[in-house]
Amino acid sequence: VARAVPVVAIDGPSASGKGTVGSMVAKALGWHHLDSGSLYRLTALTALRDGVDLDDEIGVAALAAALPARFDGDRVLLGDEDVSDEIRDEAVSVGASRVAVLPAVRAALFGRQRDYRCGPGLVAEGRDIGSTIFPDAPVKVFLTASPEARAQRRYKQLKEKGLPANMESLMQDLRERDARDAARAVAPLQQQPDAVLLDTTSMDVDAAVAFVLDLVRDRGLAA
Ligand code: DC
Repeated sequence: VARAVPVVAIDGPSASGKGTVGSMVAKALGWHHLDSGSLYRLTALTALRDGVDLDDEIGVAALAAALPARFDGDRVLLGDEDVSDEIRDEAVSVGASRVAVLPAVRAALFGRQRDYRCGPGLVAEGRDIGSTIFPDAPVKVFLTASPEARAQRRYKQLKEKGLPANMESLMQDLRERDARDAARAVAPLQQQPDAVLLDTTSMDVDAAVAFVLDLVRDRGLAA
């Protein structure tokens, strides 16, 4: 029997640094990379653009199923349009966490996420990668940081891009999104019993990447 393609599942809350860590780990290993949150973000963006109500489960699920999502390195595209920056907007972030509570939307994105599992390996991050999408992943990491540290990072990112940012409203948004992601009925954000906790509150990106790479090597999945 062929050995299953290895997966590194990185789950954790908003702005925990999963995206950056996942992308760097994938590059270091030469593996494929899936930022599953971008699929929820693309779904929300498309619904906002098309005027589909974010509570219209059937309508939003239809958009999710038909999404012309493409990834080019770390760029995220809808068809030929680069929407990498737009999907990070606060309105799209809030919209993503709203459409993510809809079971039909999650079902529409399920198979698409599993299709990214190709040799030599996949690094995937999200909320339910280790619990639902790839429960057999040989490496599972629960990557988190304190709400203050996460809001601080988001604040810095926005300022660097010359965008307006307000610490208090960032904290408020993060708390609301955390609550929605953790409390929803389907695939809530939860640390899996077999996931290793990685708290990056006082850790830099390189140390977090090195930690995950060590786990992969300890499992004998890479040299
Ligand atoms: O990781 P992120 O902030 O880009 O995710 C955006 C939203 O999508 C987030 O509010 C929760 C949702 N999401 C999810 O429900 N399941 C995933 N696997 C990834 C993201």
